Amino acid sequence: MGVKTIMACVVLLAGVSGYAVAEEKMNPAAQSAMKASKNSAVSFKNDIQPILRDHCLSCHSAGGSGVAKSGLDLSTYESLMRGTVYGPVVVPGNSDTSTFTKLLTGTNKGLKMPMGLNASGTLDNQYILLMRNWVKQGAKNN
Ligand code: HEC
Repeated sequence: MGVKTIMACVVLLAGVSGYAVAEEKMNPAAQSAMKASKNSAVSFKNDIQPILRDHCLSCHSAGGSGVAKSGLDLSTYESLMRGTVYGPVVVPGNSDTSTFTKLLTGTNKGLKMPMGLNASGTLDNQYILLMRNWVKQGAKNN
């Protein structure tokens, strides 16, 4: 390689890395939004339990119709992970196959949760995202 080629490479590299830095500086908002949706840790105790308390426990705790019909008690981490009389509703790491989160956005054999909403109604989108992210992050007792 001649001196000229090496110089050209150095100039090219400097140009490429300079561009990358400039782009990072230009999009701080977009970057933090990406982090928030992908990486921020969701807490079962602080984020998920309040949602379950407000929207699910009226039926999914002792004496409720959800417990009577399916056996699913959502009042503790342990009972949620135990699932229904048919088995688990949470597949840690996979919010698409977990019945727990699947039923929030679509129906399964005509079921949609929370039960009693009209056909197009759902929980607030931000709650659904939190619940999905919690499952994706491994459904931890955190
Ligand atoms: C108004 C009462 C009611 C509310 C509120 C409610 N559920 Fe249910 N849920 C039920 C009933 C009843 C069943 C049993 C349905 C059946 O098996 O036919 C059930 C079943 C389920 C099942 C098991 C479905 C299956 O495939 O066996 C899941 C998961 C579930 N609910 C999640 C939730 C979540 C999460 C919330 C809150 C966001 C919620 N439910 C709120 C009444 C309710």
